[in-house]
Amino acid sequence: MSTADETATAAASGAAATERFHHDKSPYDAVKDTPKERVDLLARAVLDAIHETIRKHEVTYDEYNALKAWLIQVGADGEWPLFLDVWVEHVVEDVATADRQGSKGSIEGPYYVPDAPERGADADLPMRDGEQGTPLLWEGGITSTDGTPLAGTVELWHADADGYYSQFAPGIPEWNLRGTFTTGPDGKFRIRTIQPAPYQIPTDGACGRLISAAGWHAWRPAHLHVKVSAPGHEQLIAQLYFPGDPHNDDDIASAVKPELILSPVVQDDGSARIDYGFALDRRED
Ligand code: DHB
Ligand code: FE
Repeated sequence: MSTADETATAAASGAAATERFHHDKSPYDAVKDTPKERVDLLARAVLDAIHETIRKHEVTYDEYNALKAWLIQVGADGEWPLFLDVWVEHVVEDVATADRQGSKGSIEGPYYVPDAPERGADADLPMRDGEQGTPLLWEGGITSTDGTPLAGTVELWHADADGYYSQFAPGIPEWNLRGTFTTGPDGKFRIRTIQPAPYQIPTDGACGRLISAAGWHAWRPAHLHVKVSAPGHEQLIAQLYFPGDPHNDDDIASAVKPELILSPVVQDDGSARIDYGFALDRRED
């Protein structure tokens, strides 16, 4: 079991997620040529929606001050990545992928780390000796939307059987349950890992305070995260879910789609086999 200074806290995972977000590049670079008119339009639309909510629901000064204190706490806890990825990202993902012909995607969430260890096309995801959880054997392939096999990569990351992610919760080896699988020209991969547990977003920080004040729950269904890439094709970011999870229908992050639910087949030895592949859209450029 963990010692007191190894306990996962919202502030520690929030700080790690905030640092990770800033690590690689400035998010401002990609929008540096945005015209003033677009910024004005979006900023005004958001402010108008807030003003309308205040008028419609007759928000009081006490409520306004509580909101101010809460917004300050979200920042102090480093929980903006968590807040945005849980309550906002799914709509951005829907809009961004509306024209996609290939496999469905889902939100990235705050816990991706690039450059996870390279494992080839047929290997175990890095894990501890005796890693807890039902063993999973996952076979699949990467193709273009016309069915042509693609040499590419599947980056896979997921929580452990206690619902914790390496690099964001203490006491877990750096690359535990994170890996990069590279396919040959046949596009095929075979990955061995364990089934993750349902995940509760941290409840002891500002986001947890909103959840309990509003009478919500903090659960996401168990999920595998993937980023799938191949030359000349659009990158696919997705999450895969397990049938029967009680939170598939009420995911706090609204990130479940029917196409993303796996169909594991239980084997004689108690392990589960899954067969799931990805079709990528050709990049238009
Ligand atoms: C969050 C965590 C996840 O594992 C995920 O997939 C999406 C969001 C979060 O805590 O914000
Ligand atoms: Fe996740």
